[in-house]
Amino acid sequence: MGKITNALKKAAEERIQRIEKVSQIRERDKLIVKKIGESKVDPSIITYFDPKALISEQYKILRTNVLSMNKGKPPKTFVITSSIHSEGKTITSLNLAMSLAQAVHKPRVLLVDADLRKGKVAKYLGTEPTIGLSEVLSGEAEAKDALFHVDIENLALIQSGKVPEYPSELLASDSFKRFLNQMRGEFDHIIIDTPPIISVTDSGIVGAQTDGVILVIQAGRTQRGIVKRAEELLFQSHSKILGHVLTNIEYHLPEYIYRYL
Ligand SMILES: Nc1ncnc2c1ncn2[C@@H]1O[C@H](COP(=O)(O)OP(=O)(O)OP(=O)(O)O)[C@@H](O)[C@H]1O
Ligand SMILES: [Mg+2]
Repeated sequence: MGKITNALKKAAEERIQRIEKVSQIRERDKLIVKKIGESKVDPSIITYFDPKALISEQYKILRTNVLSMNKGKPPKTFVITSSIHSEGKTITSLNLAMSLAQAVHKPRVLLVDADLRKGKVAKYLGTEPTIGLSEVLSGEAEAKDALFHVDIENLALIQSGKVPEYPSELLASDSFKRFLNQMRGEFDHIIIDTPPIISVTDSGIVGAQTDGVILVIQAGRTQRGIVKRAEELLFQSHSKILGHVLTNIEYHLPEYIYRYL
């Protein structure tokens, strides 16, 4: 009996030591987590604030899926779109871009806000909307002058810029082709955030000039028939659908089931 009691006591002590060790590691991790209140970046960009958070892990899964497409020949240039508005395209684009840039092999990543009508990349990052894609495409600025950075090395961004008179025509123009070709030479991955395909044709126009499109679907809101219509429109525009991302998913399992460390 005494032996068992001693063994249990020893096990309990060891467990306490392990817990203390884990909490020390967590404390250390917190130091690299950026504080939301001190930043202008939107809290939804969780991969920026806390690359180790559970939600960041979901974006890493998406990153892995993208990187393993085509038997290890991942898409270099791809579009993020959705069927209708507010399904999570821009948040997905930003988190995926940051997650890709944080990959071990440190690829050079560019995020382009090609929602020339209601681009929100600048808003989510808390930056001033200055020179953007529309100025580059209309010849008012050079691409190099439109690039900007947040404090993640190897990630560059281009915001949408001022709303042009004819957004679809600008994206279908030779200047967009030239812009993409130039960027392909400078980056390993180019992620292009676009407007919803059912509302406007822009993502189909851009999608056809890239390796494909990731279709974001807001769970619990966007109906099956609407997604089917979006896929038809992408198909008609000769855009390849690379995959789908479901947003608005709720976790019903407790965190400890997901947490490995
Ligand atoms: N994975 C997600 N789960 C739950 N909510 C999300 C998710 N991603 C984004 N959202 C929320 O959805 C809303 C719309 O996000 P976002 O601006 O990215 O959508 P969008 O599709 O780009 O919209 P728009 O059509 O206006 O460009 C935001 O409030 C955002 O916080
Ligand atoms: Mg958007």
